[in-house]
Amino acid sequence: MPDVEQLISAEQIASRVAGIAREVAGVAPRNGSEDLLVLVVLKGAFVFGGDLVRALDGAGLPTEVDFMALSSYGNATTSSGEVRVSCEPRATLAARHVLLVDDILDSGRSLAHAHAYLTRSGVASTRSCVLLDKPSRRVVDVQADHVGFEIEDRFVVGYGLDWAERFRHLPYVGVVSP
Ligand code: IMP
Ligand code: MG
Repeated sequence: MPDVEQLISAEQIASRVAGIAREVAGVAPRNGSEDLLVLVVLKGAFVFGGDLVRALDGAGLPTEVDFMALSSYGNATTSSGEVRVSCEPRATLAARHVLLVDDILDSGRSLAHAHAYLTRSGVASTRSCVLLDKPSRRVVDVQADHVGFEIEDRFVVGYGLDWAERFRHLPYVGVVSP
């Protein structure tokens, strides 16, 4: 069983999530009485998404929540680069203002793919939000509109992120040390 060394504490995450919520609430476009559609990318963003929608409520922004899943082919820590939508949202996306929420921006392929999918679905607008960003790993030229923490090129787990389906439950973000 590998050890996990803490990189970002639960307290640091909570305070940054509140900050992101204020940022999002300050710029979120509105469409009449329709709430912002928060689209949480499974599985990795399930913890972040849950905390974020509650923080958005605290920042005065009511939201509607839905989920989608992306799959990329590969093993636990590397991927082949091919991304597909493996589970589509149930909400009707056309004309909606969407906040896309993912756990981590790495090569950028997932976010770019999800963004293109939303555009094809006819959304009114997309803003993107990631808890973690590893800018040094980028293969596709894409940025998130809201970033929790920029980190170095290290494989991280916890707060929803996994290593071969393990460690998602950790309340902090850490690095696996074999
Ligand atoms: P991208 O498409 O290369 O940007 O990768 C994004 C996805 O790869 C994330 O949503 C994660 O599921 C996974 N991923 C990338 N880096 C890490 C990491 O350090 N720990 C856990 N999962 C990661
Ligand atoms: Mg993911």
